[in-house]
Amino acid sequence: MKLLVLASLLALAFAKHEEYIGWKSYYVGVSDADFNTFGSMIDKYELDILSHPISGREGVILVKPEHQAGFEQDAAAAGISVKVHREDVKKELDYDDMMLERHNRESFVRNGGRNLPYDSYQQIEAINNYIDYIGATYPNVAKVVNAANSFEGRPIKYLKISTTNFEDLSKPVIVIDGGIHAREWISPPTVTYAINKLVEDVTEPDLLNRFDWILLPVVNPDGYKFTFTNSRFWRKTRSTDQSSLSGFCPGVDGNRNFDFHFGTTGTSSSACSDIYPGSKAFSEVETRVVRDIIQENLARIALYLTMHSFGSMILYPWGHNGSFSHNAFGLHVVAVEMANAIDKESLPNFPRYIVGNSALVLNYGASGAAEDYAHSVGVPLSYTYELPGLSGGMQGFNLSPVHIQQVVRETWVGITAGARRAGDLFRQQ
Ligand SMILES: *[C@@H]1O[C@H](CO)[C@@H](O)[C@H](O)[C@H]1NC(C)=O
Ligand SMILES: [Zn+2]
Repeated sequence: MKLLVLASLLALAFAKHEEYIGWKSYYVGVSDADFNTFGSMIDKYELDILSHPISGREGVILVKPEHQAGFEQDAAAAGISVKVHREDVKKELDYDDMMLERHNRESFVRNGGRNLPYDSYQQIEAINNYIDYIGATYPNVAKVVNAANSFEGRPIKYLKISTTNFEDLSKPVIVIDGGIHAREWISPPTVTYAINKLVEDVTEPDLLNRFDWILLPVVNPDGYKFTFTNSRFWRKTRSTDQSSLSGFCPGVDGNRNFDFHFGTTGTSSSACSDIYPGSKAFSEVETRVVRDIIQENLARIALYLTMHSFGSMILYPWGHNGSFSHNAFGLHVVAVEMANAIDKESLPNFPRYIVGNSALVLNYGASGAAEDYAHSVGVPLSYTYELPGLSGGMQGFNLSPVHIQQVVRETWVGITAGARRAGDLFRQQ
């Protein structure tokens, strides 16, 4: 009997991630001449790109069982280097779940019975509770905004942090969002940690006094939730009203849904694709929240950061076509400053940050992205962070929760460097 209970508990636990049975992940190394070939293989073999291969650095992709043989063969023929990263993706995800549960238990005890959302990967409810807690505990500097409800009705919450209630119109505003791509779990804690450093554990008071901050940890709560409950590699929103296929293939890639050269490049018109941009620009309530934040504060936004993973990169416009913007020099200088600041704090086994134009660094252009949109409407400094990713160890798939603290701390150092420099440049305008 006992055994039976145990067996059924295990069965329940391991029923999760079943859709990934047989999936493998690969490191891919692509030389400059072969990026076009690689591009055509993405469609042909439905490659799921977790980290883009770039010049001189391998990427990581997921490949379904039915495509592995063909993919390996074509890659070999094209001279694209392919190495198995994880032989059994499902098994590694099961291992991650166990580690995460243990890490959460330990952090709960360590923090006196509270969940600190920058101390582990947390579900959306814990993150929302944290936002509410900050608003209730520090009403003089932090105001919770319940901007809208997501497609499935979850609150999309952000914090406005200001010593002057957003009323001092001479202050530059800094906007940071995370979690637009559901599966990029390291993104939201970098934003919640920024909240912590501006409100709870203030070691750089100039950053609090000099700027107004808007911090939105999870743009896409439905997708984020879904990565915990159903599909670990879900990327999109969960809307079902975008195409006749949306019932069967829900969701829109939020970072293709912004109104800038919408649907022109790096997108797919199939609703089943992970890079489906939606039926029209800003079809998603989640991206409209980001749009409205940008529009409402446009005159004062000095810096916009959108947090993604992974790849250890800081990328700037124009990401849809690889051209440099009128502010390319400023964009580059501030990016280098942020990257240098992070690299100084980073661990030796983390890759150094790479900085540059999104489309040129990735050898891949994408339209309708938040970074391009913000810049196009007038935000002078607009960046996509690709945070560090993946477990370097022997077991597990995702970046181990033991590395979250490191990533959020070093990212905060990058944010502080970017904020100060953006503030100096802003005053000169
Ligand atoms: C790329 O896009 C930007 C922004 O829309 C535009 O100003 C630039 O001319 C484009 N570059 C090319 C080569 O079309
Ligand atoms: Zn992303």
